[in-house]
Amino acid sequence: MPGIRGPAEYSQEPHRHPSLKVNAKEPFNAEPPRSALVSSYVTPVDLFYKRNHGPIPIVDHLDSYSVTLTGLIQNPRKLFIKDIRSLPKYNVTATLQCAGNRRTAMSKVRNVRGVGWDVSAIGNAVWGGAKLADVLELVGIPNLTGSTNLGGRHVEFVSVDRCKEENGGPYKASIPLSQATNPEADVLLAYEMNGETLNRDHGFPLRVVVPGVIGARSVKWLDSINVIAEECQGFFMQKDYKMFPPSVNWDNIDWSSRRPQMDFPVQSAICSVEDVQMVKPGKVSIKGYAVSGGGRGIERVDISLDGGKNWVEASRTQKPEMHYISEHNSSDKWAWVLFEATIDVSQTTEVIAKAVDSAANVQPENVESVWNLRGVLNTSWHRVLLRLGHSNL
Ligand code: MTE
Repeated sequence: MPGIRGPAEYSQEPHRHPSLKVNAKEPFNAEPPRSALVSSYVTPVDLFYKRNHGPIPIVDHLDSYSVTLTGLIQNPRKLFIKDIRSLPKYNVTATLQCAGNRRTAMSKVRNVRGVGWDVSAIGNAVWGGAKLADVLELVGIPNLTGSTNLGGRHVEFVSVDRCKEENGGPYKASIPLSQATNPEADVLLAYEMNGETLNRDHGFPLRVVVPGVIGARSVKWLDSINVIAEECQGFFMQKDYKMFPPSVNWDNIDWSSRRPQMDFPVQSAICSVEDVQMVKPGKVSIKGYAVSGGGRGIERVDISLDGGKNWVEASRTQKPEMHYISEHNSSDKWAWVLFEATIDVSQTTEVIAKAVDSAANVQPENVESVWNLRGVLNTSWHRVLLRLGHSNL
């Protein structure tokens, strides 16, 4: 690949923030302390979770780096970074969430396979780049196209990193052509994160950002974009990131029976306190995030102190200076909302958060009902135990 290469080992990994909790060293996967998530609406780049399936690619010559657009299209071509940058630039505030966020809570029910994420495999960033819909127009695919004349119905993104799951081949994923060519879906080829050039961990020089969809489809270190007839047949689309019922185990699993997960479901988590934290009697501020996939807003976040019998509504915000209204054009439709409620604690208390999205989808009560062998999409009510005792809170 001119300009960029995927190393086979880990000697040239970038520097990472010391406060990240490392969940797997090679490849490097890490999440920030949960309290960091609620200190700002836009997550600082160095505290943004990092999910990598192989060593981080190295860019030798940015000027010779290009993305190949090929497959079932009339005019395949190469685009250099200057070509992507010459297209209209969009800034899209979007939350990226790993499908395995909150996996550790699933493992407490029954062991699951996967990186041991707590609640912070999620972050909210302002992604800057070109719309994929505009890029596809350059190769003759108009906006809002469901299939090309040559039979293309999906858009595959291929990287340069080397993943063991792909037997040393690159990470890849696809989305439907109808989504890729819909300017309203805001799918980006991003070269900036929070106003800065994308860093190596997050996909320098170019990554895909598919808002509202599990992070696995937002391919980093982009090498080629292929218009294809069927969805991508890569490992991460066909043998991973699918949702199975609790009855499926490693002996009876049939990967072909399920479709690849795309939109993430409604989710929330309490971040201002840890699970099993000592607090002094009195007022405690409960803060966290809530987000839903597919561009659905957050209609409500409810807090219960009695196992779900009674609920109080938390306040919700996005940008500090503006009132958040779900589905309103003043709101960032692809981004999380931060919630807050002040509770009075006089005894050991389990605090529960549950969010409701604008389609009235509600988080499920119990993790058991959504348990699956890969530990993905744990969106059950989030619970933290506060014990009375000596604390600074
Ligand atoms: N793209 C490539 N090329 N390689 C990867 O390992 N991981 C995916 C996705 N894109 C991955 C990738 C997964 S599973 C997630 S959750 C997001 O990137 C994480 O993005 P981040 O590391 O920027 O937070």
